[in-house]
Amino acid sequence: MAPVKITPKRESLLANIRVQRFTSGKDRSPYFDNFKLEVETGMTVLAALRKIKDEQDGSLTFRAFCRSAICGSCTVRVNGRSVLACSTQLLPILKDFRKGSVTIAPMANLPVLRDLVVDIDPVIDKLAKMHPYLIESPERVPEALERESLMSRDELNAFDYMTDCILCGSCYSACSSVAADPSYAGPLTIAKAYRFSIDVRDSFRGIRDQAAIDQGLWSCVQCRKCIKVCPKDTRPADTIRRTRKLTIDDGIRDTPGSRRAKAYVADIKRFGQVNKPMLPVVVFGTKGWEAIEVAEAALTKQGLEPTRRVCKLPGQEGVEGIFGRVRAIEDEEEQGR
Ligand code: SF4
Ligand code: SF4
Ligand code: FES
Repeated sequence: MAPVKITPKRESLLANIRVQRFTSGKDRSPYFDNFKLEVETGMTVLAALRKIKDEQDGSLTFRAFCRSAICGSCTVRVNGRSVLACSTQLLPILKDFRKGSVTIAPMANLPVLRDLVVDIDPVIDKLAKMHPYLIESPERVPEALERESLMSRDELNAFDYMTDCILCGSCYSACSSVAADPSYAGPLTIAKAYRFSIDVRDSFRGIRDQAAIDQGLWSCVQCRKCIKVCPKDTRPADTIRRTRKLTIDDGIRDTPGSRRAKAYVADIKRFGQVNKPMLPVVVFGTKGWEAIEVAEAALTKQGLEPTRRVCKLPGQEGVEGIFGRVRAIEDEEEQGR
């Protein structure tokens, strides 16, 4: 049989590309420029930016090196979503929105230097505090340099998925908690710390545990936006969950976050719901009473009667079974990771 020749369907669309412009030290606030461009099948966001720079405005500034989704330098936001410019095709986005128009802006949560180029120093500083490198354990690393430090497939699997991270910052740009609190470490830094802490050849886990807590490990709200945008599918929010468990297993249990986690588990097991009225005291100790009194005063003002007790929800006996199933699924996930 003769080989079937596949001819991809070529399409093109005259698009309006809105690009955010800003020069630090010159412009008072960002503004948008519109560029008309014939966008063809297969054209990436990066190719479109290059074409605009070559043919329409040489001053347009953006960052890119490898064009292969490897160096992690070309992250921008397209219609609000953080993406790698070099591996994101423009035509499907234009057709999805059916407007023939697309907006390209720099990464969020970082200062803009010029147009689409941001200052990544804040992320690097946070990352440095996590000690993102192996501090060898004398028990695992052989004294003789010519001997290898071997690990089992399971030991490698525990962090192998995280080695795909290219430090592109898409997760950092999308993170709700960094937006709310710029001192929060952000997904990629915590995930990178976990990658080394869980490595059996390492000996610095305790220091990294504390560094993660100091930089807001429990501030993550598990919105999972970092998972949605990660181009390498490393699922940083899941790694943050694992890091939290690691710190508790390592004996760091006296933090507001770990107390909240413990209260959630105990309350749901007991009542089928979280005892929210009392949560501030469980988490913050006696300081929490102030929050409770404020909440109760607000309810009373609305003519409602505040209560500090929760009732058991119907079907509570089934909750134990659900707990068991969730734990089994988690265990399976850990093993299959
Ligand atoms: S899950 Fe946590 S780290 Fe990920 S985007 Fe949401 S708040 Fe940020
Ligand atoms: S975790 Fe994913 S999104 Fe975040 S920096 Fe690494 S590759 Fe990029
Ligand atoms: S240019 Fe290197 S990841 Fe896009």
